[in-house]
Amino acid sequence: MEEQGSSVPNEALSFLDRAINPAILPSSPPRRLSVKFNLEPSVDTIESSWRNIPRQSSVKMHKQVYETFTREEVTDTMLDEAAKLFSEHYGTWGEHSHSPGKPVKLSGRRLREEYLPDSSASYHARVTVDGNLAGSAFACRWKHDNKTICWVTQLVVHRDYREHGLAAGILRSLRSDEDDVYGIMSSHPVACLAAARSFGRNIEDVSLDFVRANAEMIMRASPISYVREARLRGPLFDPGDQTEIVSGVDTQFFIDHEEPLEALSTVKETCEWPLGDLPDGYEYLLIVPSKYRRSKSLIT
Ligand SMILES: CC(C)(COP(=O)(O)OP(=O)(O)OC[C@H]1O[C@@H](n2cnc3c(N)ncnc32)[C@H](O)[C@@H]1OP(=O)(O)O)[C@@H](O)C(=O)NCCC(=O)NCCS
Repeated sequence: MEEQGSSVPNEALSFLDRAINPAILPSSPPRRLSVKFNLEPSVDTIESSWRNIPRQSSVKMHKQVYETFTREEVTDTMLDEAAKLFSEHYGTWGEHSHSPGKPVKLSGRRLREEYLPDSSASYHARVTVDGNLAGSAFACRWKHDNKTICWVTQLVVHRDYREHGLAAGILRSLRSDEDDVYGIMSSHPVACLAAARSFGRNIEDVSLDFVRANAEMIMRASPISYVREARLRGPLFDPGDQTEIVSGVDTQFFIDHEEPLEALSTVKETCEWPLGDLPDGYEYLLIVPSKYRRSKSLIT
């Protein structure tokens, strides 16, 4: 454990502190944070709800089971299943990529290497619907200035089961009372929408000032290389930046944007979309302070 505020003393951190707990004043004495990761796998069973009323597809959804596994608990079979879901349902490469029109694929081995790296506090969450794997996510927790960051590193829902609240459900299942900040980078506006909601905010209420003040330092501390190395883009980070994305990262991930852009135009009809438009090779960046942090665990 480190003393709070000891390593990064600048303005952005006091902003982080204030956003997480407005009661903290800059002159508060140093406090200690203890973080306990939940090492037990958790299983929630959710029987049919209004969410199961089909909106786009007519798939029947009787029983949804959400499970979360720590890195150590994730088996190769689980990863092969997650890789299959990803490879069949994530999306296709865009025209500026190396393989236009081909599905974006991942292997179980790569999932382990890149999303569950050694010594990291990383997780796999999944939802099955009537016994079928319908959604999968990966996440990683790390510490930054004594705050616990929980970052969603991957999220995919089977096409037949989309728009039934499964992405939002998986993200909620990843939440912990110990988390201070949540983050996600995604080319899909719905992933950002679901993350904002699941972590306690409407997308319209997200504080872009918070993102601007904290993105750089939080992301550079990540054990996940593609998060650590992502280049911040958009006028939020550089007023001279002319790109149409407001809060984004250049990850050189040239996935086809047809489906995300279609979703974006629907999203824009229903809300004030704050993150801007999406250039090729870029992803949206969303970082929000937790609304669910138990204040007692801030001080030991
Ligand atoms: C992004 C993705 C995970 C969303 O999964 P999902 O299960 O359909 O999402 P949810 O049903 O939980 O929807 C979350 C919110 O977005 C809305 N939404 C879902 N799909 C939408 C669409 N196509 N257009 C507009 N809004 C949409 C939902 O209505 C819901 O809003 P609400 O909370 O107001 O009801 C899924 O589309 C997917 O796997 N896409 C391909 C992979 C990808 O891009 N992943 C993200 C990278 S990290």
